[in-house]
Amino acid sequence: MLVEEYIEQLKPFVIRLFEGDSSGHDYWHLERTKNLALKIQETEGGDKIVIGLAAYLHDIHRIMQNEKGSFVEPKESIPKVKEILANIDLDEETVNKICFVIENHEIYSWHGNNVEDINTLIVQDADNLDASGAIGIGRCFSYGGSNKMPMYDPSIPLKEDYDFTESKNDPSSIHHFYHKLMKLEETMNTNTAKEMAKSRVQFIRDFAEEFLGEWNGKK
Ligand SMILES: [Fe+2]
Ligand SMILES: [Fe+2]
Repeated sequence: MLVEEYIEQLKPFVIRLFEGDSSGHDYWHLERTKNLALKIQETEGGDKIVIGLAAYLHDIHRIMQNEKGSFVEPKESIPKVKEILANIDLDEETVNKICFVIENHEIYSWHGNNVEDINTLIVQDADNLDASGAIGIGRCFSYGGSNKMPMYDPSIPLKEDYDFTESKNDPSSIHHFYHKLMKLEETMNTNTAKEMAKSRVQFIRDFAEEFLGEWNGKK
C-alpha cells in the first residue's frame, strides 16, 4: 500500500484530534511536515512509509500538552500513536520504526544527542523547515499569541550569537527569530534540507529587517 493511502485512512482520526489548536501545531503543520519529509526522502533515502506516517503523527505530544498545560515529551504520546496506527494494516516492525522516529524527533544533534536513524533525521529536518520561511513567521506569532509571549520587546537586545542550544523561553517572537529561526539552515541534518532552508531563512531575515524598520519609525 502507498503511504498516501495510509494517510487517507488515518485522516479522520488525526483531524479530530488536532481541531481547535491555535499554537501553530495544528493539523496543517502535520500535512506540511509530511509533504516536506517525503520530498526530502526522494533524494536522501530512508523508508517512505515510516517517514510519511511518523511525520504525519509526530506532534500528538503537543495536543496532549495543550490539554495538560505543561510540557509533554514525545515519548508520552506513543500509546496514543499506537492506538491511531491500529486503524491501518501495518506490521509490528514498521509500527516500531514509526514510534522510534516520533519518540526521537526533538532530540537534536545541537543538544549533544545524536540520532543516526535516517528516518528520524529527515522528519526532524521537515519539522524544522516548517518553522522557517513565511509559514515559520506565521507559526511563530501564533505560538507567541497562544503562550502570552509579546510580538516584540525592544528593551531586550537582539543577539544573533545567542546560544540557541539552551532551550529557554524567548522574551518575544522577534527574539525567537534571532535566537533560533535564523539559524535553522545550519542545524539541518541533510544536504537536501539545508538547500531548501536557504531561501526560507533569507525571507525571515528580510522580514525582521522590515519589521524593525517599521517599529523604529524609519519606514
Ligand atoms: Fe514535536
Ligand atoms: Fe512539529
